[in-house]
Amino acid sequence: MAGGWAGLSRAPAGPSVGAVTTTELGDRRARRTARPLHLLVCRPEHFTVSYEINPWMDRAQPVDAALALAQWETLVATLRRLGHTVDVVPATPGLPDMVYAANGALITPGGTVGVRFAHPERAGEAEAFATWLEANGYGPVHRPVETNEGEGDLLPVGGHLLAGHGFRTTRAAHDELSRVLGRPVTSLRLVDPRFYHLDTALTVLDDDPAHPDVAYFPGAFDAASRAVLAELFPDALTTDEGTAAVLGMNAVSDGHRVVLSPRAVRYAEQLRGRGYEPVPVDLSELLKGGGGPKCCVLVVRA
Ligand code: ARG
Repeated sequence: MAGGWAGLSRAPAGPSVGAVTTTELGDRRARRTARPLHLLVCRPEHFTVSYEINPWMDRAQPVDAALALAQWETLVATLRRLGHTVDVVPATPGLPDMVYAANGALITPGGTVGVRFAHPERAGEAEAFATWLEANGYGPVHRPVETNEGEGDLLPVGGHLLAGHGFRTTRAAHDELSRVLGRPVTSLRLVDPRFYHLDTALTVLDDDPAHPDVAYFPGAFDAASRAVLAELFPDALTTDEGTAAVLGMNAVSDGHRVVLSPRAVRYAEQLRGRGYEPVPVDLSELLKGGGGPKCCVLVVRA
């Protein structure tokens, strides 16, 4: 595929961030800059918990459909108020999890990769997203052969493409992705079923290639992956079990403002200390499906 990342395929790996001095970190804290995001979302018109495919989902727990919609509208209004562009992909009846638009694709300057879900309950979403993306100028969409749940497991950050596997997206999908996009992929193994997608365990705080920044819950990863993360991001923010257990890591950052769960109180404090501005948005109903703010958005990277 032509475009932005093609040249990177010749590089052995993305740049290592390297350790920075305390003064440099202090400077960065004082100068966090927001970048406008282009996001795709899907209204939870058909949202419900009618099956259980992750430990957060419990059919016995009632979902307040009107509240789910209202909370989602607040999320969208908040993102727009922060200056971001938010476009809406129409929801398909019978696909209750389609609200988690992050799982709809991976859209990069080097091409758009569609998805293939691990669970048959979500299979129909793949073509719904791919068809819409192609009709709206984000195509062509590569239909993957291997199981790949889009941005839920695939997070570009500062020239790296971090890719989770272990529960949904497979290791084989990482190879497919690397071939299709012509760039290296950094595989990370998830080991805790509560954190079944990479975006439930790691937040991309700053995607700036000059000083990429992430936060993650180490307990969600195996030892080898923790070592990879420590090497790539020696100054990363690491979070505690309490933060991860309220799905706190599932947050949307523009490099300055971080939209996150109001339950992630300790995380908000940590972010403030690092120069970010936490923006809490309550998605209690969508949490019953195992998702938070980041699950609800698919980033368009032009
Ligand atoms: N119920 C959905 C599932 O289990 C939630 C998906 C959340 N999405 C995400 N990007 N983490 O597939």
